[in-house]
Amino acid sequence: MQTFLVTGGVGFIGSNFILKARKERWANIINLDKLTYASNPQTLAQLQDDPGYHFVRGDICNIELLGSLLKQYQPNAIINFAAESHVDRSILSPQDFIQTNILGTFQLLEASKAYWEKLSLQKREQFRFLHISTDEVYGSLGPKDPAFREDTPYAPNSPYAASKAGSDHLVRAYYHTYGLPTLITNCSNNYGPRQFPEKLIPLMILNALNGKPLPIYGDGQNIRDWLYVVDHCEALYLVLQSSHIGKTYNIGGNNEQTNLTVVEKICTILDELAPKPNFSYSSLITFVKDRPGHDRRYAIDCNKICSELGFEPKEDFDSGLLKTIQWYLSHPIWVKQVQSGDYQTWIKQNYQDRITAVH
Ligand code: NAD
Ligand code: TYD
Repeated sequence: MQTFLVTGGVGFIGSNFILKARKERWANIINLDKLTYASNPQTLAQLQDDPGYHFVRGDICNIELLGSLLKQYQPNAIINFAAESHVDRSILSPQDFIQTNILGTFQLLEASKAYWEKLSLQKREQFRFLHISTDEVYGSLGPKDPAFREDTPYAPNSPYAASKAGSDHLVRAYYHTYGLPTLITNCSNNYGPRQFPEKLIPLMILNALNGKPLPIYGDGQNIRDWLYVVDHCEALYLVLQSSHIGKTYNIGGNNEQTNLTVVEKICTILDELAPKPNFSYSSLITFVKDRPGHDRRYAIDCNKICSELGFEPKEDFDSGLLKTIQWYLSHPIWVKQVQSGDYQTWIKQNYQDRITAVH
């Protein structure tokens, strides 16, 4: 069986990828994660007795650690999920985004190149460096603009998007300059189990269950193209298995929704799954001060990955949202763990002024 070095695998998408990879026996996994605020070590507790899974706490900026892990485990692929990933945090404190997303990716590329250059010819050809990125690097679309394609020029608007764009450029350059067999995927907004509740969907689910306001930025008409996380993981495996290198693939769910519609759908499902007498969760919807530089619309044209690699999203939005809400309802301990200490500080920092500013 192959071995994958996954970075940031305790986070939302990485943990879903690892669980699927072990369940479907895609590969043995070495998971390198710094365990920032965004990760709950209990997320992958079910793998603790799995001999094909090994966790290492560490930072992708630590090139000595990277070198020794690569030497020890001799992975066939590196999959880089590690990142600071929340736009609002990048607006309030961009430093960590530059550090991990740009400098960390650079260190990972350097360590990978040094490792790859020493492999046998056959292993060099099979090796892959897969960098997980976002559609936010392309900037914002107008209502009638065509969806983002792989050749859409980069125009990142937030510090988060700019840091991801910087890392994508580095990955591309390591293929063109050194021949490192890299691949980049730019995916739209993901949703599903195990997402940290600072992002729209889990934040709204948990606020609603706690009877707290559901804070919608601006007029709620910003559009995102939502993809169920398991579909994203399937797409990543297809990209890893393909014979192509040096390519970029856009991944999306053909599922554009306004934020207001997403929140209304969550409320409707909660009214059924967790009803309260004479009460609808939609009464908690509150319009609040907008995010600075808020991108209006994202949409992904995923024709390339669909036609070249046979990708097809399996989950539709209503069934995916139902599964997601059921997961949060049935994992109260996980929810409690991620909502402690630091999380409460963040909620105060990001929302206190927003809510008072509008009322
Ligand atoms: P996340 O914030 O849930 O998880 C990130 C993980 O990376 C955490 O476990 C964290 O501890 C770890 N990490 C952070 N800095 C690290 C460092 N220096 N060294 C090692 N580990 C570190 O993020 P996510 O939502 O799972 O996103 C994963 C990747 O996918 C990111 O690169 C993100 O840009 C990209 N992406 C996310 C979405 C989305 O909707 N969530 C969409 C498209 C692309
Ligand atoms: P988010 O989940 O932060 O993802 P991204 O900014 O990377 O797309 O936000 C999704 C959308 O939801 C975005 O348009 C901002 C909006 N949003 C709110 O309206 N209220 C909130 O409390 C949050 C976190 C996001």
